[in-house]
Amino acid sequence: AYDSMWGGTEKLAQAIARGAANAGIVVKVFKMGATPNSTVAAELFTASGFLAGSSTLNCSMLPNMGSLLIYLKGLGAKGKKAAAFGTFGWGGGAQKDMEELLAKSCFDAVEPGFNCKWTPQKAELEAAEKYGYDFALKLKVE
Ligand SMILES: Cc1cc2nc3c(=O)[nH]c(=O)nc-3n(C[C@H](O)[C@H](O)[C@H](O)COP(=O)(O)O)c2cc1C
Repeated sequence: AYDSMWGGTEKLAQAIARGAANAGIVVKVFKMGATPNSTVAAELFTASGFLAGSSTLNCSMLPNMGSLLIYLKGLGAKGKKAAAFGTFGWGGGAQKDMEELLAKSCFDAVEPGFNCKWTPQKAELEAAEKYGYDFALKLKVE
């Protein structure tokens, strides 16, 4: 689940999803703002992992991601791994915000995230695809 102002984080989300799908798992991508929080929460019940994506806005995650992660905070997410990804321009901040909330959501582990500066280019999208593949391999798929 991600949000993006100008499409950079969206490109990362698509690349990560492609990589994870290449590892043989079912991947669902949700753009927040266009998706109710409850839809993501319902999907999470049967998911093995969760990735949150956001660009940085004023040293923070995007408001739609804050809304989702606070919504998820109250839910048990045991047996699942999570991580955060996104783009930033200078000091960042979204990654830290998302990881802090993921850590409070009872995920089994918050794995290292994936970040890039400004809009991702070819090399960064390839790295994101590999990141998605590797993340998928860490999941316990039933
Ligand atoms: C209004 C606004 C505020 C921003 N604030 C920050 C900031 O505080 N720190 C930072 O590192 N980048 C900041 N950025 C840069 C964005 O995070 C960066 O352009 C990012 O690549 C946008 O990704 P997106 O296309 O997924 O939205 C800001 C951008 C905008 C438009």
